[in-house]
Amino acid sequence: MTLEEVQSLAQEALTPNYSRLPVAFVRGYGTRLWDTDGKEYLDFLTGIAVCGLGHCHPKLTAAIQHQASMLWHTSNLFHNPLQAKLAKRLSDLSGGYKCFFCNSGAEANEAALKLARKIGNEKLGGKWEIIAAIDSFHGRTYGALSVTGQPKYHHGFEPLLPGINFVPFGDAEAVEEAITDKTCAVILEPIQGESGVRVPPEDYLPKVAEICRERGVLLILDEVQTGMGRTGKLFAFQHYGIQPDIFTLAKSIAGGFPMGAMLAKPEWAEVLQPGTHASTFGGNYLACAAALAFLDVLEEEKVLENVQQMGNYLTAKLKQLNAPIKEVRGKGLMVAVEFTEPIAPKVRDACLKAEPIGLVVNAIGDYILRFLPPLTVTPEEIDQAIEILQQALSTVLNP
Ligand SMILES: Cc1ncc(COP(=O)(O)O)c(C=O)c1O
Repeated sequence: MTLEEVQSLAQEALTPNYSRLPVAFVRGYGTRLWDTDGKEYLDFLTGIAVCGLGHCHPKLTAAIQHQASMLWHTSNLFHNPLQAKLAKRLSDLSGGYKCFFCNSGAEANEAALKLARKIGNEKLGGKWEIIAAIDSFHGRTYGALSVTGQPKYHHGFEPLLPGINFVPFGDAEAVEEAITDKTCAVILEPIQGESGVRVPPEDYLPKVAEICRERGVLLILDEVQTGMGRTGKLFAFQHYGIQPDIFTLAKSIAGGFPMGAMLAKPEWAEVLQPGTHASTFGGNYLACAAALAFLDVLEEEKVLENVQQMGNYLTAKLKQLNAPIKEVRGKGLMVAVEFTEPIAPKVRDACLKAEPIGLVVNAIGDYILRFLPPLTVTPEEIDQAIEILQQALSTVLNP
């Protein structure tokens, strides 16, 4: 199919809720993508932090192929060896949490919010309000949307869940002041991803964790974007020496295969007795096989070390760009450049159009470019991406 044929079909048959860039990819390997014309791209977005090992990693592909020939799905009416194995692995890696599996980030957050409400109602004396952060993003289902602190995503969908109070991100005192005798939980991203890679002060999460403990409020961390190695630790909370009550994962958990997870401390997990929550597809064999293979590769290929090294390398290279840069920020391989001029969309487009090799990056608003390359990215690929980016910047700045 040509790009024009794809666009025409999409216009005819898809709901128009995405504004898509004029490219259709048909193949990927490692950090590389190829489009319908056979043009090559470096992928520094990975499907928005999803394909953590790049595209079609041989071990992940082999695991999915093997499992596809064995068994795909039986439902959660029965035991599932791969699901139990994956849960034990994540539990050991996180410090003893219990897992509920679903299929996306929004669903994982939905499970976390429902669990927090149930704990609040049953164990905390009838607490049900939730504190969330301004500019947060937690997903598009009603619960997740209700705690998303960006009114533009709420418009037209009201009324949302009641009892949500928003506070500025990065300000622990604001959390403390917002807690009432009805607050059951605080939900936060360790680093706000969708609003432009906003990194809070180093002492923010430890302080919030302390406040939550003192005030008897649950701390939920949304690690959908920051989790599974993206920031250089398996979970971002591990940078801060804290343990949230509940945390959520999705995106890269199965290296690109759709999966989400909610992990809760055992004393809270017990609240989810049979029949209280469920997902038909959650933790199916294919997703679990992919997630187990993802964890194997993470360990075998020392991927977390690579994230730390390449994160530093990419950040240093971005700081050296000849461009009107206000700030380069991030952790590990979750990095953003904020410009002083509204050039981000034009730079993104110029990167995509670059010849002979394009570069896929993400623009957030007019000023921010976000970089989420594979966790396996190499220095040579970063050098090549920076070259394309510098060229794109020069084209945009000197038309
Ligand atoms: C922090 C965070 N939470 C939740 C979500 C929603 O995930 P999904 O699109 O899989 O529902 C996202 C998606 O970008 C996210 O970045």
